[in-house]
Amino acid sequence: MKRVLFGVLALAVLGGIMVFAEQPRRKVHVIPEPVEVKHHRWHRSFEVTHAVSLEYDASQEGTAAVADFFDRQLQLLTGLHLGHNLPNVAKGIALVIDTTLNLPDEGYLLEVSRKGVLLRANSSSGLLYAAETFLQLMPQEAPYRVQSVTIKDYPRFGWRGAMLDVSRHFFPKEDVMRFLDILALHKINRFHWHLTDNHGWRIEIKKYPLLTEVAAWRADRLGQHWKKRLPQQEGEKATYGGYYTQDDIRQIVAYADRLGITVVPEIDMPGHTVAVFSAYPEFSCEGKRLTVPVGGVAIGNSVLCAGKEETFEFVENVLDEVLDLFPSKYIHIGGDEVSKTQWKKCPACQQRMAEEKLADEEELQSYFIRRVTRYLQTKGRVAVGWDEILQGGLADGAVVMSWRGYEGGREAARQGHDVIMTPSLMCYLNFYQANPEFEPSNRSAFVTSLRTAYSFDPVPQNMSKKLVDRILGAQACVWTEYIPDSHHLEYMLLPRLGATAEAMWSAPETRSWTHFLEKQREIRSIYGRLGYNFSRSSFRVDVKVNYLSNGAKIALESEQLDPVIRYTTDGTVPTAESPLYMGPFRIKERCQVMAALFRGDTLMESPTIQWVVPQNQAYRKQVEYVTPRFTKYRSGGAMALTDGKYGDKFRVNENWQGFEEKMEVVIDLEKVRDLKQIDLGFLQMTERKMLFPERLEVSSSIDGNTYSLVKIYDHIDPDERSLAYENFPVRTGGFKARYLKISAKTEPHKLIMIDEITVD
Ligand code: ACM
Ligand code: ZN
Repeated sequence: MKRVLFGVLALAVLGGIMVFAEQPRRKVHVIPEPVEVKHHRWHRSFEVTHAVSLEYDASQEGTAAVADFFDRQLQLLTGLHLGHNLPNVAKGIALVIDTTLNLPDEGYLLEVSRKGVLLRANSSSGLLYAAETFLQLMPQEAPYRVQSVTIKDYPRFGWRGAMLDVSRHFFPKEDVMRFLDILALHKINRFHWHLTDNHGWRIEIKKYPLLTEVAAWRADRLGQHWKKRLPQQEGEKATYGGYYTQDDIRQIVAYADRLGITVVPEIDMPGHTVAVFSAYPEFSCEGKRLTVPVGGVAIGNSVLCAGKEETFEFVENVLDEVLDLFPSKYIHIGGDEVSKTQWKKCPACQQRMAEEKLADEEELQSYFIRRVTRYLQTKGRVAVGWDEILQGGLADGAVVMSWRGYEGGREAARQGHDVIMTPSLMCYLNFYQANPEFEPSNRSAFVTSLRTAYSFDPVPQNMSKKLVDRILGAQACVWTEYIPDSHHLEYMLLPRLGATAEAMWSAPETRSWTHFLEKQREIRSIYGRLGYNFSRSSFRVDVKVNYLSNGAKIALESEQLDPVIRYTTDGTVPTAESPLYMGPFRIKERCQVMAALFRGDTLMESPTIQWVVPQNQAYRKQVEYVTPRFTKYRSGGAMALTDGKYGDKFRVNENWQGFEEKMEVVIDLEKVRDLKQIDLGFLQMTERKMLFPERLEVSSSIDGNTYSLVKIYDHIDPDERSLAYENFPVRTGGFKARYLKISAKTEPHKLIMIDEITVD
């Protein structure tokens, strides 16, 4: 090895003795937060220039790959291209694997001094993480001086994962590699690859060629709303889709390996298999050939038949090829959301239940998962499944991935199983990241803001140490029904993946939301320079309206630190000259509030827009509930519809009043008044069976006995958005009334959610 490297090593040894002292200097801005950072007493820095040499011993396994990755990223970030192992160079960045180093798995030491940079680890993944940290220490522009510092770092959890669904949309090989680069940047070491689902089979299996000739393709409905897509028509060709050849997969697995990432494939079973039945219908209960669904419509209840032996032969044959391709100890077999409808009707399944003395279809599911888990065990592998595999009894040795909250994970740990936490409300990065009114349309109604994602801890509260030891780690998941390409994928991932990464890597005592926000400026610059598309939704301002007896009070909120919010009330976009928000303010007249966050003169995200109707004659007037409210949705009290507080547009808070199927309310305005406009807000959240009304009727009365019709909304076009807020205005030329009757109707067993009622 070269002189430079020895020089740097000598310095590090010296440093250990005398030069380090903890000083309250500028914190380093690294995501995920390192375990231990010590600033050197010398206020000196190392400058990265073209003249610096990257020093390593290529005979150390994995070192050259780390050097290549470092090079590639350094070039993207700075334009600098370093020579490798150059003779006669005074300054160097040394990459050293030292297996005698006493560090936890994947840990590293990073030492920056005036003379050189030394990255040391006892594994190549540790070395890669040292390199990632060093790149984050570099300034955004030349001169690239890095302050002298010593960082000792290692992860909190061994399983730091990210899942990508490539079934709902297909992501070409290059996109998958790009995704892996993003994982490495965040020190994530498991790529959970959701390769099969109803909407397309994506892995070449030589024994079953129709899986890729047929099951990988569906009718092209790209650009159309997922839930409004017309099924594949008679004679129509299936042209949307794709798959990974076994060669592609080997390349991706090798590429991931160089980044310290293990690829964990998921073959989802026995549910989520409609695509299989387009190619091999014989493995379903009914044996009917299906087409690959084009979207979220008419998926039905088809699952693999648990009665037929042929099904298990198929599954084992598929897994044999999967095991040849993926060296991972863990293999994911899905197990989520299995419909039991066909199993209940299927003679083969019922016969299996009788023979195996299974009490119900849940136990049949358990039988299925146990059998496959055991098969994997005979091959030296461990099965991972979604938390539904707890139903009917957990298979010995199976690992549970807890997505419906923490509960499945907690229960599995109690039963002595290893668990991976990915509670959807915090870890599903396909969820909205801010007010859905201003975000791209989405499958699910939930909002997981950057702050919510950051609030995630893989260890739930009140879990005993013994159970905590069962938590292998955690992961972020991305389901792609509404994510057609890499550009959109990156928008959903970044910057939230940094929040999940920090939860998985950093010790709880080193984590802080305020510090995480401080670090956003640097990480966003890195995302930008690496060419990634990241979201600015965390800068979105929330506008909260509270009506008063005369006027309305407006509060503007942001999850940013010390937010500088500017706003207008005249319908124009706020500028650096617009009024600065100092606290809640009053509005007297009907207007449109626009509010946005600023850094200096820069508007950080497009403004949030909110109509305000302050001369509200319905304010605090009595409401008679002719149809009673649904028990669960009446907590706002009798005045909820007229209390001046709007229901949250993306959350069912207490302001929302719910009615099953039919609604009729009467408002008494206390005296006969001149009325012009009525506004009625409705919420739709299809996951919770809440729909907009199909029909809405408003009538008025002077005396409370005789009513005349003011407005009918008939055949309201069904809105297919899973989450939507809509104001149904009633505009008139003016009329007199004391009583207003509002009636609405929706589908049987569905809920109508209303708030607020305002009258102008
Ligand atoms: C899942 O979200 N169905 C695991
Ligand atoms: Zn069956």
